[in-house]
Amino acid sequence: MQHLTGTDALRLEAVALEAIAAQFGTPTYVYSRAALTDAYHAYEHALAGRRATLCYAVKANSNLGILDAFARLGAGFDIVSGGELQRVIAAGGDPRKVVFSGVGKTRAEMRLALASNIRCFNIESAEELDRLAETAQQGGTAARVAFRVNPDVDPKTHPYISTGLKSNKFGVAFEAARGLYRRAATLPGIEVVGIASHIGSQLLDPAPAGEAAERVLALVEQLAGDGIALQHIDIGGGMGIRYDDETPPSADDYLAPVLSVLAGREEEILLEPGRSLIGNAGLLLTRIEYLKPGEEKHFAIVDAAMNDLARPALYDAFHAVVPVTPRDLPAHTYDVVGPICESGDFLARERRLAVRSGDLLAILSAGAYGMTMASNYNTRPRAAEVMVDGARCHLIRSRERVEELYAAEHRLP
Ligand code: LLP
Repeated sequence: MQHLTGTDALRLEAVALEAIAAQFGTPTYVYSRAALTDAYHAYEHALAGRRATLCYAVKANSNLGILDAFARLGAGFDIVSGGELQRVIAAGGDPRKVVFSGVGKTRAEMRLALASNIRCFNIESAEELDRLAETAQQGGTAARVAFRVNPDVDPKTHPYISTGLKSNKFGVAFEAARGLYRRAATLPGIEVVGIASHIGSQLLDPAPAGEAAERVLALVEQLAGDGIALQHIDIGGGMGIRYDDETPPSADDYLAPVLSVLAGREEEILLEPGRSLIGNAGLLLTRIEYLKPGEEKHFAIVDAAMNDLARPALYDAFHAVVPVTPRDLPAHTYDVVGPICESGDFLARERRLAVRSGDLLAILSAGAYGMTMASNYNTRPRAAEVMVDGARCHLIRSRERVEELYAAEHRLP
């Protein structure tokens, strides 16, 4: 992780993680504003000279402070629910730079998005198109749309996060797209403006994105032949990051094949990156409650758990674990686990750590799909979130209180 340094004790930018734990407690998600800004600028650099809009995928991390930081950098947003749209607006984001993805948009979500005048709906089925046309007409307006097409390209990533294969629920089949575009072009309440595709997440090889762009471009050319001119091509998100020993491409390298396919095109390029903008800008700070030696394994039982960071339990994902304060102690191999009553409640397995109980651990690369996937399982209040900015730190989400967890519940009459 960039901006994480320290030989005697870990700092994020200029702030000691020990100081953050002392002030805000643990578990706490901690983000570096410089790291997310650098990641954003890397994309801008790769896109220099092109007409392009970066639509940050809100699902990766939807905290208002994070959205605010991206909005100030000029970002647009990729949303998948009305709730995410409300967050973008509450954070000062521009709804006219919002694209709305997702297979299950409700009428209420469509109405909210139309009233907010979002830039584009990424349509994923024929029925959704009809519903949107009707909803827009009822509201006396027109919806700008793109179809999310499924280019049937294998992104070579984890099966739960590949989305561009025929067997996935996402997008409209490539073969059906042309017919849908022609129909959409005739529908009142619909204005056809673009095309979208997203093939998966945590992609380490730039080639599949280039292949997808090629297939999409072939369709764009067919459509032009049908008299349907598009204003933008949305190539989705998906660029991978380093969790362990991966060597992800830079934004320049990742986008090179796509940009060469789209060289000389008039259409604006849209991107929907999430993980690659925020994943390596955040860590989960947790304290060891107990060390528990076992016959077969040693456990470090920490105060964060699978409800705070679900990725290890859900995808067997790897997150590096680093002690915040180095100790002159013998190292042992530990499973780092939480207090939840499930064997799947682990954050890391078989890590060599020189630690004692009471020590702080940093679980790295947890900025994306960490807090947004957190739950209250075992009636655990969700973690606090802090944004470091140089030598300052800002509380961007207060730790939940237990009473808040059941405030909406009712006893029987
Ligand atoms: N656009 C669309 C339509 C998407 O479905 C996604 C992610 C993105 C953009 C952003 O992709 P990114 O740049 O972040 O790879 N929870 C999983 C990841 C699920 C990704 C879902 N879609 C994880 O923790 O790895």
